[in-house]
Amino acid sequence: MPVVLLAGGGRNRYKPVMPVPQSASIPRELFLADLGATERLAGLIAAQSRSADVIGLMGPLGCGKTTFARFFLRAMGWRGEEIPSPTFTLVQVYSLPSVEVWHFDLYRLSDPADTVELGFEDALAEGVSLIEWPDRLGALLPRERLEVALEMGVAPDERKARLIGYGGWCSRLRLLDESFAAPA
Ligand SMILES: Nc1ncnc2c1ncn2[C@@H]1O[C@H](COP(=O)(O)OP(=O)(O)OP(=O)(O)O)[C@@H](O)[C@H]1O
Ligand SMILES: [Mg+2]
Repeated sequence: MPVVLLAGGGRNRYKPVMPVPQSASIPRELFLADLGATERLAGLIAAQSRSADVIGLMGPLGCGKTTFARFFLRAMGWRGEEIPSPTFTLVQVYSLPSVEVWHFDLYRLSDPADTVELGFEDALAEGVSLIEWPDRLGALLPRERLEVALEMGVAPDERKARLIGYGGWCSRLRLLDESFAAPA
């Protein structure tokens, strides 16, 4: 941890010059054999999610970020007919009885400051934020978050998921480990 030596006081005293970095979990790597496996993973994570959560959905174009978000919304109880990709609107908000789920796709965000107009602060304060392309947020990316990075597999419907939790998500991932390991 970076420290600064304080002058005076007769003794060496130290204080952090930066906020203590949030601890990161060990990464979990999961093999997703098909859409059903992605649905199951999204359901397990949805069951652990609550107000003020941030879930970053990462990975290349077409790897399944929006598909994951759709499964997540269904698992949270969204019964509307359509769950459109927020490719052009940048955000779609879903009001559920327990919480609002904010689904962002920030691929086209040119400046992190533009998230103010999208209601990003409200999402962080009270919603569950699912964020495709979270790296577009730069310094606005919340430290406390779950990262779900998807990768293409060998067969067309195969994917790999790599999960890293920051802050409180470290312990929540530990709660999920048994479910991850259990056969579908
Ligand atoms: N196991 C799987 N998990 C997720 N998606 C899958 C899987 N198998 C096949 N697919 C298909 O891959 C496609 C993923 O498209 P999707 O729009 O979700 O990608 P995306 O990562 O959101 O892309 P973009 O970066 O353009 O937003 C969908 O057609 C989906 O049905
Ligand atoms: Mg998408």
